Amino acid sequence: MSLKKFEFFFVVAPGTEALAVQELEENWPFLLGSDLRPNVEPLPQVQTVFGGISFEAELGLGLQNHFWLKLPVRILVRVASFFADEFFQLENALQNSNLQDWLEKGTEVEFKIESQRSKLGQEKRILEVATAVFSSQFKVCESAAQKVYLRASENQWTLSLDGSGEPLYKRNWAVNKGEAPLRENLAATGWRLLTRDVPVAEMQNVTLYDPFVGSGTCLFEAALQNQPQQQREFSFLRWKATPGFLKLPQFLKNSKVRRAGFVGRFFGADSDAEMIKTTQKNLKAIQTWVPELSLGLTVRDFWSDGKIRLNEAAVANPHGANSPQNEAEKIWVFTNPPFGQRIPWRQVQRQKWLQHLVQSTEATRIGFLYPQKSLEGIEFPRITYCFQRQNFFMGAGCGFCRP
Ligand SMILES: C[S@@+](CC[C@H](N)C(=O)[O-])C[C@H]1O[C@@H](n2cnc3c(N)ncnc32)[C@H](O)[C@@H]1O
Repeated sequence: MSLKKFEFFFVVAPGTEALAVQELEENWPFLLGSDLRPNVEPLPQVQTVFGGISFEAELGLGLQNHFWLKLPVRILVRVASFFADEFFQLENALQNSNLQDWLEKGTEVEFKIESQRSKLGQEKRILEVATAVFSSQFKVCESAAQKVYLRASENQWTLSLDGSGEPLYKRNWAVNKGEAPLRENLAATGWRLLTRDVPVAEMQNVTLYDPFVGSGTCLFEAALQNQPQQQREFSFLRWKATPGFLKLPQFLKNSKVRRAGFVGRFFGADSDAEMIKTTQKNLKAIQTWVPELSLGLTVRDFWSDGKIRLNEAAVANPHGANSPQNEAEKIWVFTNPPFGQRIPWRQVQRQKWLQHLVQSTEATRIGFLYPQKSLEGIEFPRITYCFQRQNFFMGAGCGFCRP
């Protein structure tokens, strides 16, 4: 018997909507039903809007995506929708919204009000009404972990609960960051674009190299693509409406059974020794729940002469246990070069970096993320690789090279 369905809205980086749908659909068969067995619900119809995707699903299925999906920034569940062009109508509708069935009495909540082209335009007054309606049940305050979104568009209103808490790109492992860290959801998007035509079996023979590893975002997003976010205090885990099976310890254990592993080996380099230490700390945090993950790491300037001997560098590093033993294996590069404003790279270096990368690694696949502006006016060298430029989100993009 199917349970009641709710409308979910996943906030995603603008431009990544189609990839977010793809990720949701790929993951759907792996979601568990309340009996902790693979769910048998058909794929939902997914709608996309600029910066989001929405669909209807049972509560347990929709919320479960928090653990697995790497592209969404936030997951909202619609609690009520109604028409109101007078304040008394808004008040009545909020009173009937049954928010008390979702949240424990006394929960601290923060209202996020957005009123576009609604007759009740005044956001301050709307907040006063919501506060008056809910203050006997909840503690309405600023900066509460539990956000409640009250939005109007042309007098049509929606009341939605944020299931996520901290934005989802803040992975639980990223305790230490560098000067110009990359948002994890964007790294995950780049990795998805880079690998979408590659069978899993082929990926296991790949050594993935990031020559500008920073705090490790690119390598960790690649490594953890199929791993759940654990030990995260998602808001929905405190809701009384949340199906109990999502809070059981067996839940993630059962889920993991059908998930594939990651690429064969990982290797990262950075010219800044502090960043290598940072990545090592992040790796240690990850190893508490993915003990088998290991990275080769070394301090190395990108412009150093000669071909990179990945295996030698890895052996010299105590964290290199999983690093390449055999240079004949495929080398791929996935990186976020220092093109941005904060770490200026002279134009001439930007022009030459790709050629140098190809010569020094003989990588068979290269993916890199860049701020959109950084490549303006730059011609990539006509090496023996074909370069595809693909912008996928506002102000930034992802490029690929293949022989
Ligand atoms: C944009 S950051 C990478 C950020 C990384 N994706 C993250 O999320 O932490 C670029 C990194 O390149 C490093 N870097 C800058 N110039 C370099 C060079 N010539 N050789 C190697 N690394 C360099 C910086 O130390 C910095 O950690």
